Amino acid sequence: MPSLILLILSAVVTLFLRPHHASPDFIRQPPRPIVNTPHDLPESYSQQVHLSLVGKNYMKVSWVTEESNVPSIVDYGKIAGKYDSSATGETTSYRYFLYTSGEIHHVKIGPLDPATTYYYRCGGSGPEFNFKTPPATFPIEFVVVGDLGQTEWTRSTLDHINASNYDVLLLPGDLSYADLLQPLWDSFGRLVEPYASKRPWMVTEGNHEQEKLPIIYPEGFIAYNARWPMPYEESGSKSNLYYSFDTVGTHIIMLGSYTDFSIGSDQYKWLVSDLAKIDRSITPWVLVLVHAPWYNSNKAHQGEGESMRIAMEELLYNSHVDMIFAGHVHAYERFVSLLISIILLLKTRVYENDIDPCGPTYITIGDGGNREGLAMKYKEPSPSISLYREASFGHGRLRIMNETHARWLWHRNNDSTSVVAEDVWFESLISSHSCSQKIKEKVPQHDEL
Ligand SMILES: *[C@@H]1O[C@H](CO)[C@@H](O)[C@H](O)[C@H]1NC(C)=O
Ligand SMILES: *[C@@H]1O[C@H](CO)[C@@H](O)[C@H](O)[C@H]1NC(C)=O
Ligand SMILES: *[C@@H]1O[C@H](CO)[C@@H](O)[C@H](O)[C@H]1NC(C)=O
Ligand SMILES: [Fe+2]
Repeated sequence: MPSLILLILSAVVTLFLRPHHASPDFIRQPPRPIVNTPHDLPESYSQQVHLSLVGKNYMKVSWVTEESNVPSIVDYGKIAGKYDSSATGETTSYRYFLYTSGEIHHVKIGPLDPATTYYYRCGGSGPEFNFKTPPATFPIEFVVVGDLGQTEWTRSTLDHINASNYDVLLLPGDLSYADLLQPLWDSFGRLVEPYASKRPWMVTEGNHEQEKLPIIYPEGFIAYNARWPMPYEESGSKSNLYYSFDTVGTHIIMLGSYTDFSIGSDQYKWLVSDLAKIDRSITPWVLVLVHAPWYNSNKAHQGEGESMRIAMEELLYNSHVDMIFAGHVHAYERFVSLLISIILLLKTRVYENDIDPCGPTYITIGDGGNREGLAMKYKEPSPSISLYREASFGHGRLRIMNETHARWLWHRNNDSTSVVAEDVWFESLISSHSCSQKIKEKVPQHDEL
């Protein structure tokens, strides 16, 4: 008898929880032109300033100067205009055909106090910037957005991101869409500076970062590695194309879709050792970012993440990764976090193309606003594990409240306004009784020092 009631209940709930598709009265916006961001300050002044997290309580400040003899020094302090600390770093530059970059400076500063505003200046002169460090306790809020580019849509996404507070921005690949035209890396740096100089931006590479050319630049990633170095050495990786880092209660793994990921590759071996070091009592949440999605019901880029999924999905499943964010497809899609499983209402996730209570939740968030426009065509019928899909520009926000609960919002760019189109709660896998037992059995291995 009770199972009959459950069956009816589940049928009723299913009716209300049908996969969402965009409302037909919402008009999709076409692509918009590239914005022009000139540098009209003196050549010795910093431009393209951006921040990244580099080890516990440290931040890396990166910037470019057109003049080459500017010192790589950052002066900083907790009071505007008064810098009681300073640090020096290194400088680099690169050539790409006839293009020569400006001086690219990278300076590590710290130790910094958590949840504190710092004021800083780069290279001993020029404008003052300020940033806020991430908190030392929950909650923490991440903005997640991929495939940004530098169009008027990008600007509107950035405006919406800036409209409310957050701690760290996570970008699953495709930054500037320079596509060999190197000055577009500079204009991208200038476009994002007002935001990336205020909060750390943690990125991983997309196909547009490759810029490979046979014989001349076979390895690629020349501009990306010079301009956007991430803390890979700190996480035991040998490549800027994959790394991991921690923020409060959260271990974040940035994978590389465009470097070898096959079983036995350097990236694969690094991932195995990185996953083995996770201590869920310190970081109850584990997030992964990757460019090409492993689950995708959009017709764009169908199957492009499949070989990586086959190589790595089991590894991530066995390590109980909570969420996997991808870009590449210029749209928004969420693969399960609440679906009716036969008769029980379960917080359900995905593994091997099927629902699984202990798998990750997958989200495609390649909707930053690049010049290629939206990916409008979807496979029909929608797979049952795809709960929400919509081709609109926008951005996501993951607010981790505590070790068990996180709130996910997807903001759609409704022209110049931002509209919350999705608002869902996620529970961490360690808080799920059926999965947590498996997690507790896994004792973390620490490096022998
Ligand atoms: C971002 O938001 C802050 C605070 O509201 C505001 O002062 C600043 O001008 C904004 N930045 C941009 C580039 O719009
Ligand atoms: C975690 O946050 C959720 C949502 O705010 C709340 O309902 C829950 O009680 C919190 N749990 C703990 C242990 O604080
Ligand atoms: C979306 O934008 C349109 C046109 O500007 C406006 O009429 C509508 O109210 C907006 N919708 C929301 C939910 O803000
Ligand atoms: Fe892409």
